[in-house]
Amino acid sequence: MRQKLIAANWKMNGSALQVDALIEGLRSKLSNPRFQNSKIVICPSYIHIESVLVKLQGSGLQVGAQDVSSYANGAYTGQISAQMLADIGCKYVIIGHSERRQYCFEDNAVISKKLITSVYFGLTPIFCVGETKSEREQGVTEEVISKQIVSVVEACGVDVFAKATIAYEPIWAIGTGLTATPEQAQAVHAFIRHCLQAYDRELSSKITILYGGSVNAKNASSLFAQQDIDGGLVGGASLNAEEFVQICEAAVNR
Ligand code: PGA
Repeated sequence: MRQKLIAANWKMNGSALQVDALIEGLRSKLSNPRFQNSKIVICPSYIHIESVLVKLQGSGLQVGAQDVSSYANGAYTGQISAQMLADIGCKYVIIGHSERRQYCFEDNAVISKKLITSVYFGLTPIFCVGETKSEREQGVTEEVISKQIVSVVEACGVDVFAKATIAYEPIWAIGTGLTATPEQAQAVHAFIRHCLQAYDRELSSKITILYGGSVNAKNASSLFAQQDIDGGLVGGASLNAEEFVQICEAAVNR
């Protein structure tokens, strides 16, 4: 059985004081042995990663970054490499989030490079895919998702997915309060496994696939109850310690 994974994507939020308070609220509750069979990952902004790592030491919770350079090292002012993240103790990295595709113009080629370099340095990518509202309305969701996946397979080889997690995040559901219904999400998750099955049957059944897009304490249980949904990538609701703990509870109770 696949292990549940819940990742908090704090995005560009939180002062040092707010981060301290949030971690304090999470650490004691989520260090409970009840959560030891699931993975819980906190992805703060770069600037807070180190302090979060220190505060979570010994808690069993993992830390991830929200992005990474596509280059291994060198003269790339302002960028942060996968090696640097691994070096300080990060275990995960979100790659290809729709906000980066949209605001930072990341295309499938750059995203593939980020996946390769991250896996090379031992990070587990959380690779995001998803369709826009108009793509869903036009009925091309599967086409869009399949392109996002196939472009990575072609650039990196399917083996990159043996070390990665996928997050299905319909763009129309991110930060909007509109959640995909459990049935809509399940259908796309099953489709993602179907896409990978063409390359590697075993991998397609083993890979962890998260749902993201307005996950909250109310809808988490019904989403996580779906056969092919292995947890969530949680944005807004992860900034509230109590609500994030409830979401993690929903995952372990499945
Ligand atoms: P949301 O964000 O939960 O606020 O919709 C999810 C994400 O963008 O990862």
